[in-house]
Amino acid sequence: MSRPLIIAVDGPAASGKGTIAARLAAHYGLPHLDTGLLYRAVGIKVLGDGHSVDDAEAAEAAARSMIPAGLDQDARLTTGEAGEAASRVAGHPGVRAALLELQQDFASQPGGAVLDGRDIGTVIAPDATAKLFITASAEVRARRRWRQLTARGDVIAFEDMLADILRRDERDAGRGAAPMIPAADAVLLDTTDLDIEAAFDAARRIVEAARASR
Ligand code: C5P
Repeated sequence: MSRPLIIAVDGPAASGKGTIAARLAAHYGLPHLDTGLLYRAVGIKVLGDGHSVDDAEAAEAAARSMIPAGLDQDARLTTGEAGEAASRVAGHPGVRAALLELQQDFASQPGGAVLDGRDIGTVIAPDATAKLFITASAEVRARRRWRQLTARGDVIAFEDMLADILRRDERDAGRGAAPMIPAADAVLLDTTDLDIEAAFDAARRIVEAARASR
């Protein structure tokens, strides 16, 4: 049997990592886990239960009860509020520890898997076959997210979207627990000037090169 193909896709909000990860998963016939959804679901549960996102105990309890099935169907998780709550609960080490095993189990399926997030290449799957760190300028990322949200009827000013993206970058990169940094052996892919087809093509070539070098 061929070796499992584990692909780690990390990067900041709206860098294109989710779309690239989904396309890679379809291309290689692998299961895909958007790990941001786990943190979003924890954030929304904590708020829904009437707790503060700063309440580490409540957040850890919510993380321990997390079941990933069906999260990709939950529209509440795609809101800006969920993203903000996710990035707050993601700073609690207990939350990260509670979600670790579930993500590692997903990564170690027999044929492999594609996971996207912030710490896949560094913490969740340090032995991944291929590691990509997707970036794009903050302005381009804010524009993409703003287009997505306004296309579905949300009302948000572009300047607020940009401020939101910058705040989230700073919090994700600056936290003590599993900060967002590229793994030493990750390949950087800047999608600022790439459309999705070009970005996917570049990502696929990075994966092929990593496979060939193993
Ligand atoms: O990727 P997405 O925007 O859905 O992630 C929401 C938030 O969840 C991020 O801003 C980050 O704080 C957190 N997150 C994380 N580690 C991951 C995935 C997401 O800390 N692996």
